[in-house]
Amino acid sequence: MPAKRVTTADIRRKKAEGRPITMLTAYDYPTARLVDEAGVDIVLVGDSVGNVILGYDSTIPVTMADMLHHTRAVSRGVRRALVVGDMPFLSYHLERTEAVRNAGRFLQEAGAQAVKLEGGRDVAETVRTIVAAGIPVMGHLGLTPQSVHQLGGYRVQGRDEAAARRLLEDAQILEEAGVFSLVLECIPLDLARQITARVGVPTIGIGAGPHCDGQVLVTHDLLGLYGDFKPKFVKRYADLHVEIARALRAFREDVENGRFPTAEYSFGGPEEKQ
Ligand code: KIV
Repeated sequence: MPAKRVTTADIRRKKAEGRPITMLTAYDYPTARLVDEAGVDIVLVGDSVGNVILGYDSTIPVTMADMLHHTRAVSRGVRRALVVGDMPFLSYHLERTEAVRNAGRFLQEAGAQAVKLEGGRDVAETVRTIVAAGIPVMGHLGLTPQSVHQLGGYRVQGRDEAAARRLLEDAQILEEAGVFSLVLECIPLDLARQITARVGVPTIGIGAGPHCDGQVLVTHDLLGLYGDFKPKFVKRYADLHVEIARALRAFREDVENGRFPTAEYSFGGPEEKQ
């Protein structure tokens, strides 16, 4: 029997019941399957695909075409988790009708069940319009990478009192606009605790400490697929770059030294003829 799909109502219920929410990123079919089979609640097709997969130095060059392509691949691999597609830079900032159309494409053409977009009060009316079209929206506050040039770099947000108050207000405004959950990225843990206590929708933290209703990491970070890049908030659960580098070197050395392919990996040799 197919697994029952996680819904936005399930995510909200987890907050009400005090059960932690888990979210991980995926950008392709095999990773989506692995993440889904691990039992996480939400698979986010993040616009971090720009950095992680496409080799850009920010998420700004990522397009709707990129996001739909990767979301389709992920949707084909996920049976149970809620799939959330990340709306890329400028796909929801211009006309509201265009924002709704772009959000709808994630559901209609790419198999996602919800979208995520970055920003606070400035995007509240857009959120309201997308939600009114029946499309669930996840908010994203704190360090919002699409605004990296405005923020002056990838740095912790909400450290002073005025900035913290503004983020708390933004969270409440987004809740009122209809988001079903809220990513809090790189903010002090006490501010995340306050926001989590003051909004009714679940908060999902990344670099926001232990008091959020859930946690998200970029899957490639927790797998240690990069040798040298490790933000403070990332816990590495594997060192795959070491393991992959070892395997690739071993292949090259085997071929160069005549150890591969042996009869075991060949067709029509003496073993097969018996
Ligand atoms: O794009 C992304 O992967 C994200 C997460 C870091 C929350 O927005």
